[in-house]
Amino acid sequence: MGASIAYIKTKNLEKNYSLLLDKYAENKKIIAIVKANAYGHGAIEISNFLKNKNISYLGVANLDEALELKKNRSNSKILIMGSITNEEILKAIELKIEFTIYDFSQIKFLDKIRNIKINFHIKIDTGMNRLGLTKNEIAEAANIFSNNKNFVMKGIYTHFAEADRKKSAFTKKQISIFKDCVRYFKKSITTIEFIHASNSSGIINYEDDFFNTIRPGLFIYGLSNEKNLKPVMSLMTKVIKIRELNRGDSVSYGRTFIAKRKMKIAVVPLGYADGLPRSLSNKGYLFCKGSKCKIVGRVCMDLTMIDVTNIKNIRIGSNITIFDDKNQTATDIAKMIQTIPYDIVCGISKRVTRLHI
Ligand SMILES: Cc1ncc(COP(=O)(O)O)c(C=O)c1O
Repeated sequence: MGASIAYIKTKNLEKNYSLLLDKYAENKKIIAIVKANAYGHGAIEISNFLKNKNISYLGVANLDEALELKKNRSNSKILIMGSITNEEILKAIELKIEFTIYDFSQIKFLDKIRNIKINFHIKIDTGMNRLGLTKNEIAEAANIFSNNKNFVMKGIYTHFAEADRKKSAFTKKQISIFKDCVRYFKKSITTIEFIHASNSSGIINYEDDFFNTIRPGLFIYGLSNEKNLKPVMSLMTKVIKIRELNRGDSVSYGRTFIAKRKMKIAVVPLGYADGLPRSLSNKGYLFCKGSKCKIVGRVCMDLTMIDVTNIKNIRIGSNITIFDDKNQTATDIAKMIQTIPYDIVCGISKRVTRLHI
């Protein structure tokens, strides 16, 4: 095993999931979002964790992610929420993987197929301007669905554009458009079991009994804006070399760091190809023995240098924390470089070993 390891703490997963159930999921069905390798946490392991948690679906982005779960004998139902070609739709139907209709052309394609039951969720675009039917298309869609009994509309959903902002007028408008659409479909279609809109921030900020299902992702991984959550992933590495610098010595590509005094730096085997953002160069911190150590010079593809002048007893093999649930979180790092925690955890590459503990 290499020196750089992403530890996935089951204890924290349990805590976050219990908080979700206790505080936000009363009388709600759950679509647990495990796309993008469960935001870097390991889709198979997270799906295994969710096995006995009474979830309705695992939510993935595309057919390949669904097939990976199937290959690993996930018994949970799977919902593909994103891109799917017509060919892939046929494969999904054959494998009993449910998918999302997000464009009218898919309805036209499916309407021509005879004698197969098509279980699907429909997505309504209420303002994100991404995937989903518009309000103007739903009358025709409802008409086709009710005239062709192959269509089994299991769910209907939308996605919020700014659910992280409390009391957003835009989100309220999205909710209102969505409710109108649901009511319209319900007039002619009786198979709808799942009505959903909220991702994690929607769950926290826009609780509404009209939705009987929630779609948490980030919340489960402990990175949503809710104070009792515990980040699940900790990224650690080890010192592989220590060197002394004299005043005037430079570090790394482009010589963007010049030592102003005698100092000690440590080299760690983690770079932007592992998912440590290059924009942390000369800016971010890693932690050694609980102390902040500034990144000096540019983050390289495989290596990064940090200032350890004030760290006593540091040696080759000493542990270095990039982020965890104590020193700094993935959210802290994200804020420093004007991005979001999703970007940090999803960016931890395949090269980093995941250890589920
Ligand atoms: C359609 C959809 N639903 C739910 C989620 C989960 O979002 P979050 O991780 O913010 O809970 C996502 C994630 O991007 C999504 O695309």
